Amino acid sequence: MTITRDGIAPPTSEEVKTVSLTIDGQSLSVAEGTTIWEAARDAGIDIPVLCHDERYDPVGVCRMCVVDTGGRVLAASCVRPCDPGMEVTTSTPEIERSRAVLTELLVVDQPPREQDPKQTTTADNELISVADRYSVGSVDDLFAGPTRGTDASNPVISVDHDACILCDRCVRACDDIQGNDVIGRSGKGYSTRISFDLNDPMGESSCVTCGECVAACPTGAITNKAINNIPIQPREKLEAVDTVCPYCGVGCALTYYVDRERGGISFAEGRDQSLGSQGRLCVK
Ligand code: SF4
Ligand code: SF4
Ligand code: FES
Repeated sequence: MTITRDGIAPPTSEEVKTVSLTIDGQSLSVAEGTTIWEAARDAGIDIPVLCHDERYDPVGVCRMCVVDTGGRVLAASCVRPCDPGMEVTTSTPEIERSRAVLTELLVVDQPPREQDPKQTTTADNELISVADRYSVGSVDDLFAGPTRGTDASNPVISVDHDACILCDRCVRACDDIQGNDVIGRSGKGYSTRISFDLNDPMGESSCVTCGECVAACPTGAITNKAINNIPIQPREKLEAVDTVCPYCGVGCALTYYVDRERGGISFAEGRDQSLGSQGRLCVK
């Protein structure tokens, strides 16, 4: 650590401890603490994820990102730090079979694609993308349990608990990033589902409708509702208009997806900017 008159200086390259390892035969040297998934990403190696999103701290709850480190069991690469001398393999028949079986188990009780709240609107359901990658269509030979219900109590956000894969991205988005501490989990076993405050309807909870959980959710479990009769459509069918929120002095970067035909905004998203809102939205 270097301390200067202005405070603690960022570490120089000599001070950053590095770890050497191989991933799929590529020799890499990465900063200590780098996860296998991050090292692979930087080396151009794609490892599928579901519960992981770079915006949030990894929690390793879905096991989609497993890799072989030579250990007793496959390791979740999104949370496993690189170790010196590690030899990582990201794709073998065993790994691909593990990911495919996991995908089947997740798909079995999902809403049909043609009714999925995300796929039928923005068409970017990440579980469906993974299912396509592993050629998993509908799964009819496994038992799907009783429905966990829907929640339409929020005026602009829909919740479909049956589409939830309990990845915790919304929990981290609401609690860790926005600091709203609204979302948790309730129930046990198959009936486990996300909950708002003490399992209240979302619209009656302390939710401030910031929308961060919508941006976080990889499936159709938390989605935007159409407002003003402007349907929500895939981004490529709408015109993206970059703008800045005028509400307060922060000046958060926004993108409106505009339906020119109907003359209105279909939905809005936070836009990445290095300073300020960092792609997030607030209630305003
Ligand atoms: S809309 Fe915002 S405050 Fe409400 S549950 Fe989602 S992240 Fe939390
Ligand atoms: S609602 Fe979405 S983000 Fe939250 S746990 Fe379920 S699938 Fe994950
Ligand atoms: S993406 Fe790593 S455990 Fe879910």
